[in-house]
Amino acid sequence: LANGLARTPPMGWNSWNHYQCNIDEKIVQRTADALVSTGLAAVGYKYVNIDDCWAEGERDLRGNFKAKISTFPSGIKALSDYVHSRGLKLGIYSDAGYRTCSKTMPGSLGHEEQDAKTLAEWGVDYLKYDNCYNDGTRPQQRLHILSNCSIIYIRIYSHYSLRGEENPAKWAGWYGNVWRTTGDIKDSWESITSIADQNNVWGRYAGPGKWNDPDMLEVGNGGMSLEEYRAHFSIWALMKAPLLIGCDVQSASRETLRILGNKEVIDVNQDSLGVQGRKVRSISGLEIWAGPLSKRRIVVLLWNRSNSRAPISVRWREVGLAPSISVTVRDLWTVQYNFSSE
Ligand code: GLA
Repeated sequence: LANGLARTPPMGWNSWNHYQCNIDEKIVQRTADALVSTGLAAVGYKYVNIDDCWAEGERDLRGNFKAKISTFPSGIKALSDYVHSRGLKLGIYSDAGYRTCSKTMPGSLGHEEQDAKTLAEWGVDYLKYDNCYNDGTRPQQRLHILSNCSIIYIRIYSHYSLRGEENPAKWAGWYGNVWRTTGDIKDSWESITSIADQNNVWGRYAGPGKWNDPDMLEVGNGGMSLEEYRAHFSIWALMKAPLLIGCDVQSASRETLRILGNKEVIDVNQDSLGVQGRKVRSISGLEIWAGPLSKRRIVVLLWNRSNSRAPISVRWREVGLAPSISVTVRDLWTVQYNFSSE
């Protein structure tokens, strides 16, 4: 969406992958503090996004959203003031249907303008807009109404594709800055490899202001090894995915922070050219992914998905270089330069 927002993929944190519905204002405040104290905010993670389950099960007498009294007693406006006072931005969640995906709160169907107004009054900066329990109208018809909210994030609800609807990559760029291309991520190697492959197909639809989203990060949630989390973070960065941390930032280990805070990998994701890197070769689980960056640089990822150690080499022409050329290679994980020719 050409609204001047998300010229590079959004970065921040979202409550869902770690907390699901067990979310409250204290967690949101402490996470905002932790983003600042760990230095993650300084490297770009500025959105603090509340996912599903933040509202009462029913609207108030005027039909407005009500923050859940037991978990968000101070209300969303106070929370957005808090998050803003830390130099960060607040994101929230709603849904194009009658209920959100957890079913615990109302969706925005038929209340689009009212909800957009409420969220704007509360100072919300980012909206993730889900698509559960819709009324069967094409999501496009309802989305244009939400133009008040700065960032609209659209999730594909899987039965759309099953019913033969088009993947949001093909149309969501007219309504929002980010859209989900896949089902929900899990904290496992199988999940991230399969999601990376699904998201890869839609690469040409991405660019400044419009990004494919293979779902939020699982780094630090405990289901994978550090090497696997490094691969997960690297491939998400290369695919120009939104980098939305999905772990408990307050108790994140030094190793987790080192992965999420790798400035040079983040720079690949935030590169001004905004071209989604793609898979260029895959043989027996040994893969090469690559893409162009600004200033005549390219990013190359050697991804071993097999169960054993194995050397991977890359041919210059596979990544768009002339065969005889010598290049400077920087390893973004050991953070070292090498001088290389083919
Ligand atoms: C869907 C979304 C998730 C999360 C949940 C909340 O499954 O894909 O990211 O927002 O709903 O219920």
